[in-house]
Amino acid sequence: MIQIEGWNWFKLDEVGSTNDEAKKLLQNKSIITADRQTNGRGRRGRYWISISGNLFCSFILSAKPQQIGALSFIFSLSLLETINELNPKLDVSLKWPNDVLIASKKVSGILIEKGEGDFFIVGVGVNIKSHPKNPDLLYKSTSLKINNIQIDNDNFLKLYINNLNNNISLGFSTIKDKWLKFAKGLGEEIVVSLDNEQKTGIFTGIDDNGYLMLKTNNKIERIYTGDVFYKEQ
Ligand code: BTN
Repeated sequence: MIQIEGWNWFKLDEVGSTNDEAKKLLQNKSIITADRQTNGRGRRGRYWISISGNLFCSFILSAKPQQIGALSFIFSLSLLETINELNPKLDVSLKWPNDVLIASKKVSGILIEKGEGDFFIVGVGVNIKSHPKNPDLLYKSTSLKINNIQIDNDNFLKLYINNLNNNISLGFSTIKDKWLKFAKGLGEEIVVSLDNEQKTGIFTGIDDNGYLMLKTNNKIERIYTGDVFYKEQ
């Protein structure tokens, strides 16, 4: 175990999912990384294609119910800031609730799961060296390497932790304002795919719980979970 800026970092070789290892460890302010992940999970019951060489990590945090809504935004914003530091020229943006995009393509994924007690697990996958190229992906993907960022996983994680520590100390309204500056599609028509239906409307912002606000027929609907699609992808 390594101590790093207030976190305990556990490095593993191969796991099914770093989120599962985190659920077993349940130690506040700890991070688990693995070189290989054989059963990576994505949001909404999907699979996360875990190409060896990419970053797979899970953060364990004890959080009060009122802090949980902020986690998606803190972790995605910090990731975007890290990428921006490494190459300020890239077209980076954020897709609700917690995807980071480079030139509209997904470079990372975040999966937040509840652990026992008041623990939350934030699983983060970053395409550092390569990205899946399957034609049937829900979203087009990309990697840091293909965008001229050459960095090893450990150094990337250290920079990320630094940004996380800064953002964790901020209140949600500050995080929300920072996040919205990079939000893709704000003020534009988007489609949100829910479990059994699709809703089209104007993406007007996020509320104080982190719900997406969608204006449809002059009323604002608040969306708790779903997949966002833009007009052009
Ligand atoms: C998504 O965009 O659907 C979320 C993907 C989250 C992937 C990461 S990789 C590390 C951690 N372990 C997992 O099994 N999933 C997350």
